[in-house]
This record gives sequence, C-alpha cells and structure tokens, in this order.
Amino acid sequence: MRGHDVTAGAARNYRAFAEEARGRSPLYESLAGAVAGDASVLRFLDSLPPEKRQPNLLFAAARYLLGAPPGIGRLRELVSQNPGELAGVMLSRRTQTNEPARCATLLPALAQLAEPLALIEVGASAGLTLLADRYSYDYAGHRVAGRDPLAPTLRCEPRGPVPLPSRVPVITWRAGLDLNPLDVTDGDDVRWLSCLVWPGEGDRERLLAAAIDTARRDPPQVHRGDLVTGLPALAAQAPAEATLVVYHSAVLAYVTPARRREFAETVRGLPAVWLSNEAPGVVPDMPVPAHEGFPFILARDGRAPLALADGHGAWARWLA
Ligand SMILES: C[S@@+](CC[C@H](N)C(=O)[O-])C[C@H]1O[C@@H](n2cnc3c(N)ncnc32)[C@H](O)[C@@H]1O
Repeated sequence: MRGHDVTAGAARNYRAFAEEARGRSPLYESLAGAVAGDASVLRFLDSLPPEKRQPNLLFAAARYLLGAPPGIGRLRELVSQNPGELAGVMLSRRTQTNEPARCATLLPALAQLAEPLALIEVGASAGLTLLADRYSYDYAGHRVAGRDPLAPTLRCEPRGPVPLPSRVPVITWRAGLDLNPLDVTDGDDVRWLSCLVWPGEGDRERLLAAAIDTARRDPPQVHRGDLVTGLPALAAQAPAEATLVVYHSAVLAYVTPARRREFAETVRGLPAVWLSNEAPGVVPDMPVPAHEGFPFILARDGRAPLALADGHGAWARWLA
C-alpha cells in the first residue's frame, strides 16, 4: 500500500476512535480527532506495522513515557523528538486492558453452575478477571459479599431477569492463559495497565488499583501461551471433581476468524462449560440478538446468548 493510502487509513481509524470516545473520554475524543489531521503523527504511525497503529496503543504508550495523558502538542513533540522510544514501547507492548468490573456480568452465569468450579480464562492479561469470587458486588442494592473483605465492590445495573446470586461461588482452582501475561507484582506492568484506562472514565482507575491490590494478596497464575494450542494441556490440569469453566472476554476479536473457529472446536472438545463475553459477530456462528446498543454478548457454549452486557461491566441485560 502506498504511504498516502496508509495515512488516509490511519486518519479514518483515528476519526472512528474519536466517535467511540465521545461521551466517555473528552480528552481522547479531541486527541484522536487532532491525530487524524496531523501529518507528522500520521507519518510516524506509517512507520509501524499495521497492527501497531491503534489509537489505544499510541495514547497509552505516550502516557507511559510522559507520565500523563498528552494533548496533541505534547504528542507531536514526542513523535518528533523521541520517535524511537515511542515506537519501542508500541512495539513491545500490547493493548491488554484488564477490566475487573467484567466479573459483575460473569458472576450470575457462574453462580448457576454446579460447584465447586475450576476456572480457566484465556486472554487473561494480568488475571484480574479470574477473581470473581474475591470481589464484592452491588447490583442496584442487591449485595453479594466477596471472599476478600479488602477487595473492591463492583457496581452493575441489572436489567431484565438477571439471576442474581446470594453468594459468590466456590472456585477451587483457577488459571489464566495469555500470549503475554502481565504481572501484578511488576511495577512496569502495573503502570502499563493503568495507562490503558482512558482518562475521564470515572472510577475505572481507582477500581483497577484496588483490583491489583487484591490480586497481589494472592496472585492468580497466568500461563504464557496461545488460546488454541495452550488450552488442552492447561485444562488437563484442572481437578476432575470440579465443573471446569473456560471463560474469555474481549479476546477473540484479537485473533483471525479462522483461529476463532479453531478455538471454538478446541473448547467444545473439552469437558467444560464455555462462557464468552465478546462483541457481536465475534464468536463463530453465534446468533446476534435483535437489540441495539450493546457492546458484548455473554453466552454459554458458543450457542446460547445469556445476556447483553456493557463492555466494562456497568450493566447486564438478561435475555432468558
Ligand atoms: C483486551 S485484553 C482482555 C483481558 C481480560 N480478558 C479482560 O476482560 O479484562 C485481551 C487479552 O487477550 C490476549 N490475547 C490476544 N490474543 C491471544 C491469543 N491468541 N492467545 C492468548 N491470549 C491472547 C492479549 O494478550 C490480552 O491480554
């Protein structure tokens, strides 16, 4: 592709991101809009592999180096004065946002399964979404106490007939699998995780910090590996007497459609319940409910949508 086409493509992506950030992060909305019209930043992006040109990655890397979310002026300066360092962070890091509040949409589905549970999360990032039993919950006044009294309370608005549990399930074994596990005890990894949260998104940074403290008290194991090739061996380690649950959220969009099918076949071949929390159209062959304005579908076994869910766990609409 010629340079002009590449920068035109990047400009379109950044304009689309500005739309996505509207109402969520005024700073990123205006920054993405400014990048879309900035020849020097677009040329810098042009020097990176296509999968490394994403707004989220650029903005988090700039924030990581500058210590604060930049405006277009500081970003332009960074690109002209320190392009190697910026490219280095973007090439070595990935968008691995780990959103503990997604556990609030997962919990009602977990609570319907026979206990004890053994949990495998593929694409687990730092493992914060492996700790569904440690957090406490507040579903519009319906409270559920977690096992760690110091852990944060996740607030989620229940919509429709959400089967709200009275307690957290018993999870006797848990393991994560990720191409690049982040370590909650490593200062740089923790700083990267916080740089991935969009500025202006209310409580998310505070919640992330509290979830990291929770994980540090008893860090979950996140193994390095691919979600297709690494899954069978990890599943074989789960205790036979527990209900094995293979779970993922905001992960399958990162792999090709062919790989998603291989993953679906792999997980269906295991003695496991499969819970997915992904954008519509991402889980192969899964019907998309005829509703509007929902980022994620929570589904069981890749076939039955259970709920529509906010991307960050703020609400869940049960479908049953
Ligand atoms: C956006 S994060 C989501 C993290 C977590 N599931 C959550 O909901 O907060 C996506 C994660 O998927 C991981 N990932 C992407 N492709 C993968 C693959 N083929 N195998 C394993 N992990 C993968 C990334 O490294 C990243 O940590």
